[in-house]
Amino acid sequence: MTTSRFVPCTAPMAATEQLGQSADMTDTGSVRYAREPGLDVGAFRRVLDESGLGAIRPLNDAPRLQQMLDQADLVVTARRSGNGDLLGVARSITDFSWCCYLSELAVSKSAQGLGIGRGLLAETRRLVGPAVSVILGAVPQSVGFYEKIGMPRMPDAFWYRREH
Ligand SMILES: CC(C)(COP(=O)(O)OP(=O)(O)OC[C@H]1O[C@@H](n2cnc3c(N)ncnc32)[C@H](O)[C@@H]1OP(=O)(O)O)[C@@H](O)C(=O)NCCC(=O)NCCS
Repeated sequence: MTTSRFVPCTAPMAATEQLGQSADMTDTGSVRYAREPGLDVGAFRRVLDESGLGAIRPLNDAPRLQQMLDQADLVVTARRSGNGDLLGVARSITDFSWCCYLSELAVSKSAQGLGIGRGLLAETRRLVGPAVSVILGAVPQSVGFYEKIGMPRMPDAFWYRREH
């Protein structure tokens, strides 16, 4: 566990996975999902790297990574319930009112395929609430994941690519 501020969430994942819940946390028994605004940049970097998403994120630019965390509106982590090991992260920009752009959804390779990506997305949706659209751009390798979890496609999306 890092020393960052860890704010447990109230949201459940799938009801079938919900083994323990109180007013301020959800613990599936093996994974705890929580809002973590002070996530350590080194831990963020590590999970990006271990997930594979680091190949298209500025892993070698620590100030830029730090700014990504500092300026994010919503950072949700998945940690192993027992020892607090970081398993995954979802970082979003949102106004908590109308829209939410989910920029990074990353699960360490050793923890992929266990429902954590689905859980992080569910937690993000719960935290922004039902009035808010959650929008993201999928990398080609993750398209099957979003299809599998039933996330609707946005037919007309437009974007200006960043130049670096
Ligand atoms: C994509 C990613 C977030 C998915 O997280 P995960 O924890 O491995 O996924 P889950 O275990 O929650 O998967 C939910 C379902 O989707 C399926 N699935 C997961 N990844 C898949 C993929 N790439 N293609 C097709 N199906 C996939 C799982 O088998 C599971 O199916 P099930 O409900 O029948 O068991 C994770 O693999 C990852 O971090 N990948 C690298 C980074 C990345 O591509 N992020 C997305 C950026 S847009």
